[in-house]
Amino acid sequence: MNYEKKPIPKQGGLFYGADYNPDQWQHAPEILERDIELMKQAGVTSASIGIFAWTSLEPKEDHYEFAWLDAVMDRFAKEGMYVFLATPSGSKPMWLSEKYPEVRRVNKDGIRDASGWRHNHCLSSPIYRKKTRAINAQLAQRYKNHPALALWHVGNEYSGECHCELCRSAFQDWLKKRYKNLDALNSAWWSSFWNHTFTNWGQIQTTDASIDALQLDWLRFINDQHLSFMLNEMVPLRERTPDVPCMTNFMGTHEGTNYWQWAEHVDIIANDLYPMPADCADSWRYSIQSDFIHSLMRGMSGGKPWMLLECSPSSVNWGKINKLKRPNAHRQEVLQAVANGANTIHYFQWRKGRGGFEKYHGAVVDHEGSNQSRVFQDCAAIGRELNQLSAVYGADCPQAEVAMLYDWESRWALNASQGPKVLAGGGPFKGDLYTKLCFDHYEALTCCGINVDQVSTKSEFSAYKVLILPALYLVTQEMADRIYQFTQGGGQVVATCLTGYVDLSNCCWLGGFPGAGLAELFGIWNEELDNLDDEERVKVMGQFSGFARDIAERIHLRGAKSIAQAGSEFYAGHPLITEHKCEVGHAFYLAARFESAVLVDFYQSLATRFDLSCTLDADLPLGVVFRRRESADKKYGFLFNYTQETHSIDLKEHSFLDFAVSSNCTGKLELKPYETRVLQI
Ligand code: GLA
Ligand code: ZN
Repeated sequence: MNYEKKPIPKQGGLFYGADYNPDQWQHAPEILERDIELMKQAGVTSASIGIFAWTSLEPKEDHYEFAWLDAVMDRFAKEGMYVFLATPSGSKPMWLSEKYPEVRRVNKDGIRDASGWRHNHCLSSPIYRKKTRAINAQLAQRYKNHPALALWHVGNEYSGECHCELCRSAFQDWLKKRYKNLDALNSAWWSSFWNHTFTNWGQIQTTDASIDALQLDWLRFINDQHLSFMLNEMVPLRERTPDVPCMTNFMGTHEGTNYWQWAEHVDIIANDLYPMPADCADSWRYSIQSDFIHSLMRGMSGGKPWMLLECSPSSVNWGKINKLKRPNAHRQEVLQAVANGANTIHYFQWRKGRGGFEKYHGAVVDHEGSNQSRVFQDCAAIGRELNQLSAVYGADCPQAEVAMLYDWESRWALNASQGPKVLAGGGPFKGDLYTKLCFDHYEALTCCGINVDQVSTKSEFSAYKVLILPALYLVTQEMADRIYQFTQGGGQVVATCLTGYVDLSNCCWLGGFPGAGLAELFGIWNEELDNLDDEERVKVMGQFSGFARDIAERIHLRGAKSIAQAGSEFYAGHPLITEHKCEVGHAFYLAARFESAVLVDFYQSLATRFDLSCTLDADLPLGVVFRRRESADKKYGFLFNYTQETHSIDLKEHSFLDFAVSSNCTGKLELKPYETRVLQI
């Protein structure tokens, strides 16, 4: 190859493309050639290649075939396009899983998977780790200087668990490292309960759901095991291509992976997101759910651009109801990611396969194969538009004044505990009380036009005016001290129901919730928790009014003042929202899950009182959202109508340049359903 290696648009450049499976089309060279032609028409810059191509690369054990991939890489380089070259560990060749059964997962009932499916390798198998390292070494060796190689796409959506003997024994080793001796483990796990005292390490199972501390450690272990699997895969890549960034595709708020930890090991944050808005009056809430996940990625990327590595250009094929996106919705979803700091938009998938599980999954190129489809033309138009927005990619999302903690440890500890309510309803946070509570607050802040940065327990909080801790269920003394220090520095802290119940080993804090000294900080004692039926509501009265649902705590004032109280139930009159003046800042406790109106009023009052700025000084109706990206000398705004209605927005004294039509916007701006405007401020 004599093509020159082009600089990779890491910071300040756009990647637009898709997952591409040329390995499935080797029998049809005319289609491969047509793909290149269509990619150029659609403004594609890049593709993820080889994600599930292991058999094409190593059809027999230790027998490699790279000619087909050489041709694809060369063709991409010739066109000045980039390849995100995948390591193929996401699914196993038949020869491998049949010859080495240990690479196949074992389920909770002790049954080993048959060969087939995907994302189902044993997390611990030394053979699978050795084999993935070997194929990765081959790939890295062969393509290390190839001009098309932009990034490593390591694995695919690491997830799931395995209960085989290898994993069980790895779990026991992991526990030995953590606890050193069984006495320490038994004490941390409260093992005297139900005769669960372990007298040798080999007795420890992976499946006992009755031991809440075991469950929490199991979740931690699975996370660590996936992470160590990925790091093992990355060794030959790091050795041979130290300058080629590595990333893996995250899955938003996926339960099994604490992505704050993963973020420390990858060079670029990449996420897969498939929003599925329902056709209902408040469908705009679904769009804010996407913003919530985007902002989590933004938080993890620490200010660097992140990648939306998979989304569908039309429908998916795995939902209960797979709707086509409504006009404007696809463009809006893409621009939402950009508004939240993404510089990459990649689809799953470039072309629909003729067969297999995903043949009806949305793709840029349909079975029909031409550029005539609605979806292709839509994607090509978006490709053109994204190209025109090049100035935006060098701009950053401004730092927010409000930080919100998203903490997998709290989520795991809560989900591992028997008791607090399992929420009804679907959506991306289905059954996940912890994430729903976080989202409630994010949504309310978004409705107030307030920008939010998502942070981890390790983040530095001092630059923020407000720190929100939704359901910080697991709290260590160290974290409690950091929260205290934040208020000492003049910060305002907001905690919610389910805060400060347990310590690191999922054992309850004694002396009254919230534990670890937080009861003093918030000036309350949380005596007990009422789980409500799905339809049940508790009235809220006082400075804020509306309703609480699902969870209400019966709390007492111990220094705080009550600013809203229960207006129904036997605990009518008891505080539901409290405020405690600390030495410098304030500590607010919201002792229930509240309906959105209460939270919106609450955050509106905080905004006024603590002078929080809005993303846009204008009255935006519910479901209309403004976001910003800013560089030293330029400011861009994204105005989204997430609703199904037309809205007229009064821009007051603002005057913006609309990129799409190259004209100025002033006065009243009409936004059609799902319409998005990209504006220079
Ligand atoms: C995931 C996977 C892809 C594909 C899509 C379909 O995100 O990573 O390989 O299966 O789902 O939506
Ligand atoms: Zn296993």
